[in-house]
Amino acid sequence: MTQNKLRLGVNIDHVATVRNARGGAYPDPVRAAKLAEEAGAAGITAHLREDRRHITDADIDRLMEALNVPLNFEMAATEEMQRIALRHKPHAVCIVPEKREERTTEGGLEVAREENRLAHYIAPLRDAGCRVSIFIAADKKQIEAAHRIGAEVIELHTGAYCDYHAEGKAKDRDRELEALREMSAFAHSLGLEVHAGHGLTYETVKPVAAFPEVKELNIGHFLIGEAVFRGLTPAVQEMRRMMDEAREV
Ligand code: PXP
Repeated sequence: MTQNKLRLGVNIDHVATVRNARGGAYPDPVRAAKLAEEAGAAGITAHLREDRRHITDADIDRLMEALNVPLNFEMAATEEMQRIALRHKPHAVCIVPEKREERTTEGGLEVAREENRLAHYIAPLRDAGCRVSIFIAADKKQIEAAHRIGAEVIELHTGAYCDYHAEGKAKDRDRELEALREMSAFAHSLGLEVHAGHGLTYETVKPVAAFPEVKELNIGHFLIGEAVFRGLTPAVQEMRRMMDEAREV
């Protein structure tokens, strides 16, 4: 594996969504994480939401025990989540906005307006050795603010690009893609490591994977859905293959 190879982080939240629909222990997101790892995931992402609608505290405990690849712990910037992250000290934490009523993480974090609070919030996480990533829109103001508060990584929100693609709005999709391209390069020029994710599918992954500044893609919902039809291992392997193709590794 070359050092420059684009990393695939597999988000296993929605295995827990299916499990929780029946309230038992099946299907187990940790088993899915181990399969994804064997299929070529360079990391596993899990979002412990305030309402615990999918991933639970016990899942995080078990993932920390079981994984051989790094855990990217997604969380809102709350005191409770900071305490949990500091207890586990995962490889990376990704700070995301969270609204109780939303179905998924709908927008990027508003860093510019909360610069002071977030700078203080992430400092202990960085001191504990976690790589701090901030999930933001492809917006220069937010990227500059993420850089100023001391984040090492930003994750660009690809949701709008993917939504426009699904709706057949090619012009809007291409405009979003161009913003993602420009902002990846801009963030990289500031010294930030650039990740991207949200809503990516086999149809939308390649143009984003082709940006040379992007180091990691985090993909969940589509892969877990695709696993229903073809199994998780082939679903992850196919995504990995498409990412490699886009990079011509
Ligand atoms: N990256 C971040 C920061 C996210 O919040 C999510 C959704 O939890 C993802 C990536 C993965 O998005 P999706 O499940 O749509 O692939």
